Amino acid sequence: MAGILAERPDARVLVATGSTPMGLYAELARRRAGGALDPSRITVYQLDEYAGIPPEDPRSLLGWLVRSFVEPLGIPLERLVPVPRDGDPDACARYDLEVDRAGGYDLAILGIGPNGHLGFNEPPSDADAPTRLVELAPETIRANAAYWGSPDLVPRRAVTVGMRGLLAARTILLLASGAHKRDIVRRALRGPVTPEVPASLLQRAADVRVFLDRDAWGEP
Ligand code: GLP
Repeated sequence: MAGILAERPDARVLVATGSTPMGLYAELARRRAGGALDPSRITVYQLDEYAGIPPEDPRSLLGWLVRSFVEPLGIPLERLVPVPRDGDPDACARYDLEVDRAGGYDLAILGIGPNGHLGFNEPPSDADAPTRLVELAPETIRANAAYWGSPDLVPRRAVTVGMRGLLAARTILLLASGAHKRDIVRRALRGPVTPEVPASLLQRAADVRVFLDRDAWGEP
């Protein structure tokens, strides 16, 4: 990622929250603090958000993105583009249009959900799914409970950048770690390409680089 940002200092970058990329973001912040990297000119696009959750709510994914990525990397808040958090269809369509007009994403940093979702593109999600409001799947609610302490605290709906936009990113980094991801990582990378496993659609994307730890790939 540091290499990509060095080549393209004004990159448009679609950025996930979640546990998996936190080490990456901390390492980028460390390099920035040491002067080895200057990501201050990139534009950050939020990947997903719980529907209707305002930035001051502790569960706000925008707040998490600011704390873990935008601030530590010295990116001015004016260059953070949130997803339309109310999921209004017109606002989502305008958002996609503006991203297209800007030239699409240069880089997408993605994790993978236990059911193969990317962002909150829950199964089934087609390759041309737009940015939109979605109902969260039961597995996603269970997995997200780990962030907030209880499934009751996880909102039931969310807004996600659509498959169409993220699959068109010039470069995609997919990150997964832990044995609990092994099965879904295999299905995504080696299984049939199907909307039932949205991450399997990455097999058709132009430039995908996958970073796994041993637990997420090794033999059981
Ligand atoms: C969450 C988020 C995704 C994230 C994924 C994996 O539900 N919507 O943006 O990439 O699931 O999360 P984690 O990295 O915590 O396993």
